[in-house]
Amino acid sequence: MRYAVLDGGKRLRPLLVMAACEAVDGNEAAALRAACAVELIHAYSLVHDDMPCMDNDVLRRGKPTVHVAFGEARALLAGDALQALAFELLAPADAGISDRTQASLCRLLAQAAGGSGMAGGQAIDLAAVGKSLSEAELRHMHRLKTGALLQASVMMGAACGEPGAQALAGLEGYGRALGLAFQVVDDILDVTADSATLGKTAGKDAAQDKPTYVSLLGLERAGAHALELLDEARAALGTTGLADTRALRELAEMVVHREN
Ligand code: IPE
Ligand code: IPE
Ligand code: MG
Ligand code: MG
Ligand code: MG
Repeated sequence: MRYAVLDGGKRLRPLLVMAACEAVDGNEAAALRAACAVELIHAYSLVHDDMPCMDNDVLRRGKPTVHVAFGEARALLAGDALQALAFELLAPADAGISDRTQASLCRLLAQAAGGSGMAGGQAIDLAAVGKSLSEAELRHMHRLKTGALLQASVMMGAACGEPGAQALAGLEGYGRALGLAFQVVDDILDVTADSATLGKTAGKDAAQDKPTYVSLLGLERAGAHALELLDEARAALGTTGLADTRALRELAEMVVHREN
């Protein structure tokens, strides 16, 4: 569990939680727990994503994958236990976080990680190998497998405060656009970057015949689409009426212009 979580990784999801909490002037102690919880779910999803029954990858965050280092059974169990730990963190016995906030955080994370979110999207991803998907189908898959957890990061940060309906709607739109942009860029980097820069094996999507934004649109149009989504994310932030959305804005730029 420590090997999977404690070094490497951009920590994008925790940064989104903290930035959203800052934007709504929320409870920072709750946000720190939410930030760690979402990263634990993400790290577990990577451990399982890399296993031989899924993407069969040997490199992650610049190190041998967990199943390569510890064997498949322990990788499976480490993932299971990271998932449980995430929810344990969100429901502390006495940390000055209201029961209502704890329940909201658990609900948002559970919905994003489960069958209608990450795990469901991963199932679609595996079923799509060797098939060509329409843009609507690909968007749906990406929204679930990756977008849901990123959007939930934003909404969990927001749930640490008490934003009004307009702010919430704007943050939701921001998270949705950013979440999709993230996986479009992941698809692009799989083709354009090298394994050393990525810390994971480049070129895997084509090698495994996965439908991606690059296989569907080509590199240039996929890149243009990521920029459109960045504009959409920025525009949504503009509708929140919140005073300080600078960190969220910068994170959206980072998602689209990142090199790994
Ligand atoms: C990689 O996510 C897996 C996807 C959801 C596409 P990240 O690119 O955020 O991975 P780390 O956390 O930086 O290792
Ligand atoms: C993974 O998508 C999404 C997860 C839920 C982990 P990918 O399979 O494209 O992620 P990488 O490229 O291996 O990081
Ligand atoms: Mg995968
Ligand atoms: Mg993978
Ligand atoms: Mg990928």
